[in-house]
Order: sequence, then C-alpha cells, then structure tokens
Amino acid sequence: MNTSKNPCVLAVLVSGNGSNLQVFIDKIESGELNAHIACVISNNPDAFALSRATRHNIPVVVHENRGFKGRREYDAALVKILNDYGVELVVLAGFMRILSDVMVSAFPNAIMNIHPALLPSFPGLHAQQQALEYGVKFSGCTAHFVDCGTDTGPIILQAVVPVEPCDTEEILSARIQVEEHRLFPEAVRLYIDGRIVVEGRLVRIQS
Ligand code: GRF
Repeated sequence: MNTSKNPCVLAVLVSGNGSNLQVFIDKIESGELNAHIACVISNNPDAFALSRATRHNIPVVVHENRGFKGRREYDAALVKILNDYGVELVVLAGFMRILSDVMVSAFPNAIMNIHPALLPSFPGLHAQQQALEYGVKFSGCTAHFVDCGTDTGPIILQAVVPVEPCDTEEILSARIQVEEHRLFPEAVRLYIDGRIVVEGRLVRIQS
C-alpha cells in the first residue's frame, strides 16, 4: 500500500495490444494517477504494447516463456526483475500467463488483473465468446487481485454492459473495453489511495 505522496511504482505486464497500458500511461502523464510505470514487461517480443511503452520512454523487458523449466522458475526470474525496479504494484494488462505461488507470495494483494467478464462467470480465455454462447443478457469486466487460480482472486470492482442480440465477439469486446479503460485505473487509484482492505476474499473500499 502506498499512502504517501510519492508516486506508486508500477510494473505493467502485457502480451498484446496494450490499450489498457495506454490508458495508464495517459492518466499518469495527465496527472490523474499518482503513479510511475517503472517498467513494462512482456512475455511476447512482438507485443504492440512494447512500442507504446518505448514511445513514452518507459523501460521495457521482454521476458519470454522459453528457457524455463516451469511456471515457478519463470516467475522467480520475474520477481527478481520486479524487485530490481522497486515495483510496489503489479498490473496485469492482458498478460497471458497464469501466475504461480512464487509470484503471488512475493506480491500479496499487490497484483491486479482486468478480466473481460463478470467473474466468477466465464474465467479464462475467450470470456466474451463464452458469454455470448451462454446467452447472458449482461456481461462486463472485473478488476481483481490475483491469486494462483485462473481469474479467481478477490474482486475489487466490476462494471456491467448489455449484451445485444446481434453482438459478435469483437463488438462485445469493444463495448467491454470501454468499461475496462475506466474501471482498471479506478481500481489502481483506490489502491494508491490506501482505500482497499482485503479480508479473505472480500474487498472493502474505505471512503
Ligand atoms: C483485455 O480485454 C483484458 O480484459 C484482458 O486482456 C485484454 C487486454 O487488452 N485481460 P489490451 O492489450 O489492454 O488492449
């Protein structure tokens, strides 16, 4: 938790486009978020998110999947990178890996993810397509802390969007992303302001 006036030191972990990363960059540059992105880390060397970071002079680290015996070994190297950058809060913005206990225990209740569905419904990959196939009338997104499960950690904030009869995966994803870009920085802001209390899997927001 960072309750001082110093900017909270973030790492943003990505694998792809990085539209959520861009929102964080923009909100920090405009002074709306009292944070500093110490590094952007990608397991995918071709992630467009890396170009976004470089354009804003944010250090990037490509931490590829290959060359590690397993998830825990990969995560141990990741923890070292994060500690070297003095990271306080880890932001998963489309990072396509499940974290092991090595990462989760190194950053207890200090790793956040955004998921494109109303958890606990539709965890894992293709959440928007899962929602369409199930026939729900509303979906949305969830900002949550990360544990060792697949999208199972304590829920911080959620936003709801309607599912329309003619929706495709792309159309629903775009509607949800509008809410992601509002919700995720809001969850990080609550963390930075020291307003989040986690009790077991319940998250209380202090006023
Ligand atoms: C988002 O839809 C998010 O919900 C999911 O991964 C996607 C990342 O999008 N976890 P982007 O790379 O931030 O554009």
